[in-house]
Amino acid sequence: MATVGSNPLALLNVRDGQAHVEGVALARIAAEVGTPCYVYSRSALIATYRDFAQAVDGMNGTICYAIKANGNLAVVRTFAELGAGADVVSLGEMKRALQAGIAAGRIVFSGVGKTEEEMREALASGILQFNLESSGELEALSRIAAAAGKRATVALRVNPDVDARTHEKISTGKKGDKFGIDFAQVPAIAARAMRLPGIALEGLAVHIGSQLTSTEPYRAAFARLADLTRKLRGEGIPVHSLDLGGGIGIAYAEDKAPTIDVSDYAAVVAETVGNLGCRLVFEPGRSMVGNAGLLLTRVIGVKDGEARRFVIVDAAMNDLARPAMYGAHHAIRPVQAPAPGSVESPVDVVGPICESSDRFAAQRSLPPVVADDLLVLLSCGAYGFVMASTYNMRPLAAEVMVEGDRFATVRPRQSYEALLGQDRLPDWMAAGRPREIRGAA
Ligand code: LLP
Repeated sequence: MATVGSNPLALLNVRDGQAHVEGVALARIAAEVGTPCYVYSRSALIATYRDFAQAVDGMNGTICYAIKANGNLAVVRTFAELGAGADVVSLGEMKRALQAGIAAGRIVFSGVGKTEEEMREALASGILQFNLESSGELEALSRIAAAAGKRATVALRVNPDVDARTHEKISTGKKGDKFGIDFAQVPAIAARAMRLPGIALEGLAVHIGSQLTSTEPYRAAFARLADLTRKLRGEGIPVHSLDLGGGIGIAYAEDKAPTIDVSDYAAVVAETVGNLGCRLVFEPGRSMVGNAGLLLTRVIGVKDGEARRFVIVDAAMNDLARPAMYGAHHAIRPVQAPAPGSVESPVDVVGPICESSDRFAAQRSLPPVVADDLLVLLSCGAYGFVMASTYNMRPLAAEVMVEGDRFATVRPRQSYEALLGQDRLPDWMAAGRPREIRGAA
């Protein structure tokens, strides 16, 4: 069984010294679409999805792709065509899932704080279930559903107090994290759910974190979930379904690549919760898209400082936040293969944004590059474009999808008109040329 996302470089296909994604030269995409630009391989998306689906085949499970990892319409549509459901955490994500053709009956609404508007709309759409994270949410949803003459199907998200052994900013299943209902509080809240008029309690949910690189935390969390299931059943509370969340890590580094083999993950699922007779939900995000996408960027210039050489590129932390935000490592490669015999040397790869955290790599070994060369940052399919901002008044990058030897822009670069045209002056401030404020220095 293939390991999902086990090799960041596998997305690159070098022909005649030129990096391609599938059959399309990245230089051609850069020439036609410009940079910075995200590029996704549809064939890679399909392959990773199929790997996962095959691993959990026969488990009575639904794969609800976590839209937050990459919400591009063409990406979500690709998964919809493969039969995926969706895990959404906002009204916007729910609308995107529906727009992409995912049936409402295959959508799970997660998230630590759902607004009443979100609950109302999701209920009206007829989604599969709400994963609730507090008694407050439970009461609010019951009220809203009862008022609409409905019962909302619900899973209670449990905080199993398990250390996912991942980056602290993306660990979600430890006591003290804001997520889920504390383990000991679940039975009382479940009993309450059974009495509420607008609630149909269906099961339990967990999600302990993202970018997990070992199955052990899963084993611990799922075992606790199984214990809780038996305990609740013993108290007369039915548990029909278990949502196991997402979190499977991918390889980011070029060489050593600790990731989880999906078949090992599936084995842990079978061992821990496989004999409970529950319907399962899986919410993979990163593992579906992470290594199916890259960020294409052009070198603006090379600056030789006394201590360091800086390669300044036209992508920045507003386009890809992960290195600045989590200290994340993304492999970097030139699009044009280096001349034979060229020697790699350590450089800092940085963007043009006015803060020092705008750095993609420190002291990274790269072959010599000059202005106008193209580089790729790998493993950018997940949590790349979706976390982008317009900081420094930089337009949102373009997104491209490749399949075979064709490609399409699946989101054009934001225009300056769109970027600048949203702001309004109050009607009590003069239009036209700025008027001097009386008394100003
Ligand atoms: N389900 C729930 C309830 C989640 O909160 C998440 C991710 C997922 C599923 C999908 O997890 P995945 O399979 O993608 O690990 N921005 C961070 C990652 C944040 C993950 C948030 N929750 C990053 O760039 O590493």
